Amino acid sequence: MQVGRNTRNVVVLMTKLRCASNKSAIAEAAETIKGGGLVAFPTETVYGLGANALCDKAVRKIFEAKGRPADNPLIVHIADVDMLEGVVAEPKLSENAAKLVEKFWPGALTLIFRKASGVPDIVSGGLSTIAVRMPDNQAALELIRAADAPIAAPSANVSGRPSPIRAEHVMSDLGGKIDMVLDGGLAKVGIESTILDLSTQTPTLLRPGAVTLEMLEDVLGTVAVGYDLAIDTAGSPKAPGMKYTHYKPNAKITLVKAKRDARVERFIYNRIAESGEKCAVIAEKAHLDKYGGKFALKSYELCPENLFGVLRQLDDDEITHAFVHAPEETGVGRAIMNRLKKAAGDDIIDLDAVLFVCTGNTCRSPMAEAIWRKYDTGCQSFSRGITAFEGDMLSINSKEALHKMGLELPDFASKRLTKDDIESASIVLCMTRAHVQHAERLYPNSGKIYQLSHYAGENADIIDPFGGTLDEYEVCAKHLDMLIEKIVEDRSKRKI
Ligand code: TXA
Ligand code: MG
Repeated sequence: MQVGRNTRNVVVLMTKLRCASNKSAIAEAAETIKGGGLVAFPTETVYGLGANALCDKAVRKIFEAKGRPADNPLIVHIADVDMLEGVVAEPKLSENAAKLVEKFWPGALTLIFRKASGVPDIVSGGLSTIAVRMPDNQAALELIRAADAPIAAPSANVSGRPSPIRAEHVMSDLGGKIDMVLDGGLAKVGIESTILDLSTQTPTLLRPGAVTLEMLEDVLGTVAVGYDLAIDTAGSPKAPGMKYTHYKPNAKITLVKAKRDARVERFIYNRIAESGEKCAVIAEKAHLDKYGGKFALKSYELCPENLFGVLRQLDDDEITHAFVHAPEETGVGRAIMNRLKKAAGDDIIDLDAVLFVCTGNTCRSPMAEAIWRKYDTGCQSFSRGITAFEGDMLSINSKEALHKMGLELPDFASKRLTKDDIESASIVLCMTRAHVQHAERLYPNSGKIYQLSHYAGENADIIDPFGGTLDEYEVCAKHLDMLIEKIVEDRSKRKI
């Protein structure tokens, strides 16, 4: 290991950068791994930061270099199926595992097995299961063979940063913190592997990737989707890494989606026209020409191979706000959307969503929001209050009334209605005439603000149960449910 001192006289590692196609570089990297060091190496998905998976001390260095929380387990990389012995507890592959290995390894599919006792607990973040994959990259496979050990490797980025698809990305995040980087050029897939849990009764998709849900269903029949609700009943995420914010560039990211592309284009166009920031658009090739012209500073093509490159490029180009024209959520689009949602954090605008409005956003409108969801219309719902106190909780009786209907609104926090909320909704359904008037003052002539009962073909206001008994809340919830059911049944004739 070579060390040096930086300008503040702090000891740093001299990170060597070597070409991955050079045999002596692979041999040197393997020696580094054997000696307990850290080597970043190319895989077909993204670059990994590797250490000997069977050496507790070496694996700890990965967490330190990345600033990774210790409960976020790593993926173990192997070069042939025989290496599973000593890594997984199962003496032989299950029928499902055997089929998947045959079809997708080497490749962008990580499988979760029960962990062998010889693998240090730090690798699996204390879990009794272990994630394993065989990468489809010559240099990676040669390195594992030459190191003669399974290699534990997360993506080679500082925690929270976009995953690296080039050696330069690794150097910029981890240079000075690790021993060596093997440069294998651009990672060809560009998005991290699919993670499938085989330790559960039904195989469960924990992270979407280039091996798509559809491809897995072809082989396995039923596959449960666990990544958007990657929280188990005990409250801990199934793939612990999925709870952390990821892929965050410095630029603010707004993800905009709708069934009709023209709506997305118009919305992004308006937002950028009003914004004083350095704005950019990220869109698939088919839509990119719609964003030409002067209004956006830059536009970037969205595709899996390019996603993380673009997220890093935004910062290099000093963009402060990027709008993403969301791709369709099927096939590899699921993986792209999953990563983009994390990059956007809260800032996801669904232009097909229904907005419910009441006064305080603690009773009627959040109940309507939850009730709407049970009808599974494919349209999201959200709610706001005319005079809401930001961050208020759902009222206890609303929570209870929803609970009796088998519904819940986890993590709900009240928000006050804004013009932007109305602009981003496909339709705004208000509890009373007074709410309609207020919403119309905020956003005149939108043509999409209605009184909920009128829209369902009835007359009465929805009575505010605020401060009332649980019975009164239940009556209100049933009234909302009856109206929403009518609207949903009648949807084909309506705008939603
Ligand atoms: O494509 C990839 O998978 C890349 C390359 C380097 O192989 N690696 C990668 O690793 O993306 P990382 O650490 O960035 O993501 C690993 C994910 C995390 O979300 C982690 O929580 C999950 O895998 N994971 C690891 N072990 C697990 C386990 N036993 N059960 C559930 N999730 C697990
Ligand atoms: Mg990662």
